[in-house]
Amino acid sequence: MNTITQKALVLGATGKTGSRVARNLTELGIKVRTASRSGSDVRFDWDDTSTHAAALQDAALVYLVAPVLRLDFAQQVSAFLDLAERATVRHVTFLSAYGMERAPAEVAVRGVELDLIDRAHFSHSIVRPAWFMQNFSETFLQPVDGAIIVPTGDGTEAFVDAEDIAAVVAATLANPEAHAGAQYAPTGPHAITVAGAAEIISDVSDQPIVHHDIDRRAWIAGTVAAGVPADYAEMLGTLTDTIATGNGATPNTDVERVTGRAPTSFADYARRTAHAWTGEAVR
Ligand SMILES: NC(=O)c1ccc[n+]([C@@H]2O[C@H](COP(=O)([O-])OP(=O)(O)OC[C@H]3O[C@@H](n4cnc5c(N)ncnc54)[C@H](OP(=O)(O)O)[C@@H]3O)[C@@H](O)[C@H]2O)c1
Repeated sequence: MNTITQKALVLGATGKTGSRVARNLTELGIKVRTASRSGSDVRFDWDDTSTHAAALQDAALVYLVAPVLRLDFAQQVSAFLDLAERATVRHVTFLSAYGMERAPAEVAVRGVELDLIDRAHFSHSIVRPAWFMQNFSETFLQPVDGAIIVPTGDGTEAFVDAEDIAAVVAATLANPEAHAGAQYAPTGPHAITVAGAAEIISDVSDQPIVHHDIDRRAWIAGTVAAGVPADYAEMLGTLTDTIATGNGATPNTDVERVTGRAPTSFADYARRTAHAWTGEAVR
């Protein structure tokens, strides 16, 4: 397939990975159609199926970000993939999550993986990243009043840079034949504790930042109070327990294997991102 003339549909295009995938693909010379509910080339809403066909029109490649903040979406994604089969799609790269190959089929993310594996009409790649480093600068691990509040104890996680995830995704879409059926689990180069991450963020932002290892039930309640649906907050609580019990992601070589460059360390991500914690303008 001559991918340079192929169009890529990027879902979740204003999000942490989608925005970076779109930029990577454009830099590779691939035509991109960004999609989300607002702020993208086309309006795409998982809950409004009338927006799906236009998003897929002429698209040969799809970066698939499933509906966020919910647990029950396998059918919705399946219907979208049916539509993709009837359109011009040749390859789908799916954003899954670390360890999902061990999840039961009833877990929606695993359900989507199995659905893709079953389809012969287009090829696919599955990308299962560790926790994103950007959680510390863009979402739920951002320091609040000098504390990163999360019940991960002394457990470690091989946090991965969303830039590296995007580079892996872009590589699969740029060369689908080489990555057909591939499953990658992008991780950072080191497994670190949240306290270790806080120390690095302290250094680069020149202010005291600590890890506050809060009670898990209290954290889940706070997450719900912040607007996260209760069932999703429970799932996030389970993920924090995975780390706390020593079962967090461990480093592997997938980023380097796919992109040819070593994964970004937390220190390098933090240096590059220091403005997020100091409030200084990005230069
Ligand atoms: N954070 C982590 O550490 C981590 C680790 C592994 C896997 N993941 C997975 O990453 C996924 C999220 O990806 P991300 O972090 O790149 O995205 P994100 O930053 O959470 O952004 C979500 C994107 O989806 C769009 N969106 C939200 N609701 C939508 C809807 N109803 N219809 C269509 N688009 C919608 C948003 O734009 P609009 O709001 O404008 O529509 C936005 O572009 C989750 O499924 C999560 O399981 C996360």
